[in-house]
Amino acid sequence: MSKIQFLALALAQGVFAAGVQVVGKVVDAKGAAIPDAVVELAEPDALLPRSDTLSDAAGRFGFEFDAVGVRRDRRISSGSRELFVPRKGDLRLEVRGLDGRVIAQRSVWSESGAKRLEGLEALVPGGRKGVFLVRVEQEGRQLGSFLVGHAGRTRVEFRIGSSVSIAAARAAEASSTVSVQIRKTGFLPRKASVASATGLQDLGDLVLERDPLESRIDSVLALMNLDDKIGQMTQGLIGEKSPTSGSAELAKLRLGSLLSGGGDPLPDYAALQNVALSTPRRIPMIYGIDAVHGTAKARNATVFPHHIGLGATRDSSVVRRIGEATAREMLATGTDWTFAPCIAVVRDDRWGRSYEGFGETPELAVELGVAEIRGLQGGGEPWNVIACAKHFVADGGTTYGTGTQKTPLDQGDARIGMEELRKTHLPGYVAAVRAGVGTVMASYSLVDGVRNHANKDLLTGVLKTELGFDGFVVSDWLAIGQIEDSTRYKEAVRRAVLAGIDMAMEPNSHAKFITTLKSLVSEGAVAQDRIDDAVRRILRVKFRSGRMDAPFLPEFTVNPVGVARHREVGREAVRKSLVVLKNQEVGGKATLPLAATGNIAVHGSHADNGGLQCGGWTLSWQGAAGEVPGATTILAGMRQVLGTGRIVTGSNAISGAAAAVFVVGERPYAEMQGDLTETNFADFVLDAPTASLMAMYRQSGVPVITVFISGRARPVPTLLTASDAFVAAWLPGSEGAGVADVLSGAYAPTGTLPVSWPLDASQATVNVGDGKTPAFAYGFGLTW
Ligand code: BGC
Ligand code: BGC
Repeated sequence: MSKIQFLALALAQGVFAAGVQVVGKVVDAKGAAIPDAVVELAEPDALLPRSDTLSDAAGRFGFEFDAVGVRRDRRISSGSRELFVPRKGDLRLEVRGLDGRVIAQRSVWSESGAKRLEGLEALVPGGRKGVFLVRVEQEGRQLGSFLVGHAGRTRVEFRIGSSVSIAAARAAEASSTVSVQIRKTGFLPRKASVASATGLQDLGDLVLERDPLESRIDSVLALMNLDDKIGQMTQGLIGEKSPTSGSAELAKLRLGSLLSGGGDPLPDYAALQNVALSTPRRIPMIYGIDAVHGTAKARNATVFPHHIGLGATRDSSVVRRIGEATAREMLATGTDWTFAPCIAVVRDDRWGRSYEGFGETPELAVELGVAEIRGLQGGGEPWNVIACAKHFVADGGTTYGTGTQKTPLDQGDARIGMEELRKTHLPGYVAAVRAGVGTVMASYSLVDGVRNHANKDLLTGVLKTELGFDGFVVSDWLAIGQIEDSTRYKEAVRRAVLAGIDMAMEPNSHAKFITTLKSLVSEGAVAQDRIDDAVRRILRVKFRSGRMDAPFLPEFTVNPVGVARHREVGREAVRKSLVVLKNQEVGGKATLPLAATGNIAVHGSHADNGGLQCGGWTLSWQGAAGEVPGATTILAGMRQVLGTGRIVTGSNAISGAAAAVFVVGERPYAEMQGDLTETNFADFVLDAPTASLMAMYRQSGVPVITVFISGRARPVPTLLTASDAFVAAWLPGSEGAGVADVLSGAYAPTGTLPVSWPLDASQATVNVGDGKTPAFAYGFGLTW
């Protein structure tokens, strides 16, 4: 068989036939075996590897293809795909998420010589966006498969006939596409291409070069004594909480980092950095905050929707741009490390941190988590700011009744077993690590009875070794002390550091942590090597972020905080996040979009309240009702979009209104305080006056629209029945006009549920694939 014939066949069959084996050996520049290198078989742009393994003690690895390979056709740009089909007949298309779950199946008939499938949105329910794997089969034979991004913009073209031109075959060869990618902490990553072949393919010795950055780290480490090193491993927050508090501790204890907690003010970064640079080793500090939906601690900042709303957008582009905008607003207000993204996969809607995760499936954590990391850190080094994937791991999978803060779920125990952990909660971290996230925060919660902060198998075994994470792990706020009871702090520190915690977030116990760890090292209970590894990881992040070479934050000629460009991104995210759950006709007309003429009555506790629409982690830790400087409330947004003259408010029914919009929902909460109990996870009902106002409108034939503000899905049977249209708006943040963009009809809704919406109180846990029938399924969302 000639090469062209072979390629033609390969094209017709997909690039790789079953039975191909790829083997190789990972070695260093001197030819010595490198064990525990992460070896992945992956398409160039995939967020998750197709398959992965670790090199063994002799540096060897091997893969076997179980199925036909993925071919990404690069001949055709701008998102259209071409596939050769051997004969006329039905083609079966199957769309899968990155987690392998089948999302849609469809048959298409290729009658004529060529068939184009314009717009893959036809395939993907609810027009959801993201990255999908499409497989094409004819008569049970797989013809090929490829990845598609942003469903709406992809076109697939089929051609009958397996003969291909030489040019096409060459192009196909060049684009054949699965490569072996190798990573090992301390070395430069490399790729080796896997040729289209059958049988055994031995890639031979694959040499990894030491990363030259490691030599720079060596030279810093060589100057450091134990005090310097343990100082680097410590993050403090200093009691009196002024913008320069922490100066004395920075100087004396040589702390590696400081943070502001949820309720603390922003720092004077330059003043603090000057102090860090005056210590003997002059190692710059980094400053952490929870910029979890924009730099919401800063006044006049752009506050973006909380993650659950971003999950509803299914739009990685807007999430990446949110990350970029957040990074700029952080840098301009004096911080360079955010404890974000939270990539919790939330399995129980009663959890008070539900809104911090993108939704209930790993695919959302993968796609949107990576997008946010790319936005926050930027396209290359130096990074914009340092990101932090949290909380490792299974924070959203805790079992009701196991919470450790007098909470039912928060900081509880995920009694789920490793299989479920790997399937549901780990993929987000696999993708985050591959995307180069700088830091990971350990979770307060437990996994099968073991605290994450003391879990060496998970922190060192899975995260650092199996996933090849080479950044550093930070502990959560005072979490180390929770490992043991309070009289056994020393044992807690020993266990945490040995498990793999590299930096300790010890708000006001930093000094105690330092003396404790120092004595553990001098007693030999914590090896010097572990300390050196932790410090090396911290320095690696400080180098990559650019802080070692440029200790001060960039200056902006125009202050980026809350600029129109960022607010526009926020508004776009808001309108894409709205999920229309109900939209019935009143008097033969659909309730939404709102009529083009007539007065619109706007009511409800949440209509004109920035604090209520922003939720927790806004200005303060738990969030609060009230003004958020710079925010546009939903009411103000309605006035902007529909015209002030058409919007009427008041505590009584407005006579002659064309429609009545009620903006209602949950009051702000955050961790520890936001969990719902078995009894209060019940039908969410309005206060009596609001409920009767609603009823009055309906009696007089005025359509009633509920805009529901919440950090999670909860049962709302009464409210649903009382409304002609129902819109889940999540926690939209400062750009309330995005709500009016949709209600007014200027933009058709595209948001789809990132979680299954529970029918009633019996469905506190209801997740796609569990066999239950929710009120509205994962992925549901109406449009017009
Ligand atoms: C939370 C983290 C947060 C940290 C710092 C902890 O209580 O669990 O998500 O990053 O506080 O504010
Ligand atoms: C928050 C602090 C809060 C603390 C309470 C932290 O996560 O950031 O503001 O005081 O938790 O435990």
